[in-house]
Amino acid sequence: MCGIFGIVSKRDKLLGPTLIDAGLRLSYRGYDSVGIATINENGIIDLRKDAGKVTTVAERFNFKEMIGKRGILQLRWATFGEPSMVNSQPHLDSEGLMVGAHNGNVVNNAELREEFIAEGMIVRSTNDGESCVHAVERFIRQGFSMIDAIRKAYDVLKGDYAFVIGKADDDRLYAFKKGSGLVAGIGDEFTVVSSDLPSILPLTRNIVFMNDGEIIELSDQCFTIYSVSTGEVIDRSAEIVEETMEVAQKGGFDHFMLKEIHEQPKVAEELLHLWNNSPSIDVTVEALKNARNIYFVGCGTSFNACVAGAVYFNRLSAKTTIPIAAPQFIAQYNRAIGPEDVGIFVSQSGETKDVLNAVEIARKQGMRIFSLVNVVGSTLTKLSEKWLPLVCGYEISVPATKTFTNQLVAFLYLAYKVAAKDINELNQLPDHMLKTIEEAENQVREILTYVQDWNDLYCLGYGITYPIALEGALKLKEITYAHCEGMLSTEFKHGPLAAVTKDYPIIFSTIREDIPLIISGINEVTCRGARAIVIGPKDERLESNAHHTIRIAEPTPEFASILTIIPLQLLSYYMSVHRGFDPDFPRNLSKTLTVD
Ligand code: G6P
Repeated sequence: MCGIFGIVSKRDKLLGPTLIDAGLRLSYRGYDSVGIATINENGIIDLRKDAGKVTTVAERFNFKEMIGKRGILQLRWATFGEPSMVNSQPHLDSEGLMVGAHNGNVVNNAELREEFIAEGMIVRSTNDGESCVHAVERFIRQGFSMIDAIRKAYDVLKGDYAFVIGKADDDRLYAFKKGSGLVAGIGDEFTVVSSDLPSILPLTRNIVFMNDGEIIELSDQCFTIYSVSTGEVIDRSAEIVEETMEVAQKGGFDHFMLKEIHEQPKVAEELLHLWNNSPSIDVTVEALKNARNIYFVGCGTSFNACVAGAVYFNRLSAKTTIPIAAPQFIAQYNRAIGPEDVGIFVSQSGETKDVLNAVEIARKQGMRIFSLVNVVGSTLTKLSEKWLPLVCGYEISVPATKTFTNQLVAFLYLAYKVAAKDINELNQLPDHMLKTIEEAENQVREILTYVQDWNDLYCLGYGITYPIALEGALKLKEITYAHCEGMLSTEFKHGPLAAVTKDYPIIFSTIREDIPLIISGINEVTCRGARAIVIGPKDERLESNAHHTIRIAEPTPEFASILTIIPLQLLSYYMSVHRGFDPDFPRNLSKTLTVD
């Protein structure tokens, strides 16, 4: 995710404390590295940066004494290039005459690096933020003005990001966004620009919201917005923002969980952009194609994603894969695995001890280790032959939401690749997710009253929706504290049926091809008094057999499975809030479990 912040003041002054403060507010966006560049009235750039959290790096490099007329801060959530001093941002151009930083991902970074090196530029890191600086440098070298050079760079840099840059020999900062958030603030004798609103609000409430395709030029008292496509000035005034800091931090949502549910389409799109340009994909896909046995290993939510991954691989590529919870992987397979086998280890944090224990055994046996990880630079990335980033940014809420859906997108992507299916089909998915979030909200609220006061319920799925039922039940358990079991719908009659009493809520998930089977399941429980709620495609048979239906689009069965988790996430969220709990921080649970 990363965070950027820039400030322009009237004259040289102590900027360090203001930049550190902004860094602390932005630190939820990344803590792999931090850096500050100040530019004084004489155009001297003071650049200090390193891997580590803002507090420790600020102390080590004495950020608080940094003086300048302009300043840029960046916090990194690593994607391109390991967390290190050289990959830390901000970055200089070849001559040290410009300095800039970005957040987000430039997906054609690898190709651009090669081009910039061939053009004779000094490229110091493998980080994509540096490519943003060199993209501007390329056009400055060709004689373009700063605004025109940035307009041209905008077209060269593919992906979703926001970028801020300053040039030693003028007195402004320039920033633009393409897919990532960017806001500017106008104060008394200063202007600021940042990835988010909460980092600006302590300084000013006079705010300018930026759109994609716009460049903002900031001087000490005013700003000008230019259109990237025409170069013309766009007329926009600053607006007064009244939001409290807490509301602003949650992006207007009541909880981080709800914000993160709503971020799912965006992060899915970012994953697809990034992976389409990642060299690590081909190595991983080749390994999967040639493997003797393939294991998908994870815990909790990540294990549920592994189960979905196995279904996708079977449906699309006819490949057998073995999804297994990490500790059981050791018990069941530690003697059977070897160098011919491939493991995809899945972990949001990359630090789950149960997963790392499994990796250790797998490594001893010579098995090839690949991983799907959200936290780049985590232990799991270091132990993997190749790791593929989940590109979700920081997930603050303890219950995983956006990291789960991106794990599913990641498995689907790999299954498409192994099957040599057209990967472009996946580009439709984020729009379907967006629409599902919009449409599910009211449908979920309608069924809430039939579910929210029960302390015992079931989520049932079959085939491709079985892992969704597991994950839906996990969400409900984690944040509502009700007992909720996720189960294969066909297994319910083998015992759990005894639990059914009048109005007992059972939530079924289905795709179109499984409707006849699910209808049998529904009738088995409704004839004993249960209340059946179905999440599935719009279908007369479901409407007439279940008490309630939540309709999900089914562009493909695989897409439908991903969309199906959205109402279950929302149901858990609203039920938790109804019970007076904080869904972001459920009792007894931790986001990352680094113990056995
Ligand atoms: C903890 C969290 C779960 C998470 C699991 C695996 O138990 O509370 O939400 O699914 O760890 O975490 P990982 O970081 O490995 O995906």
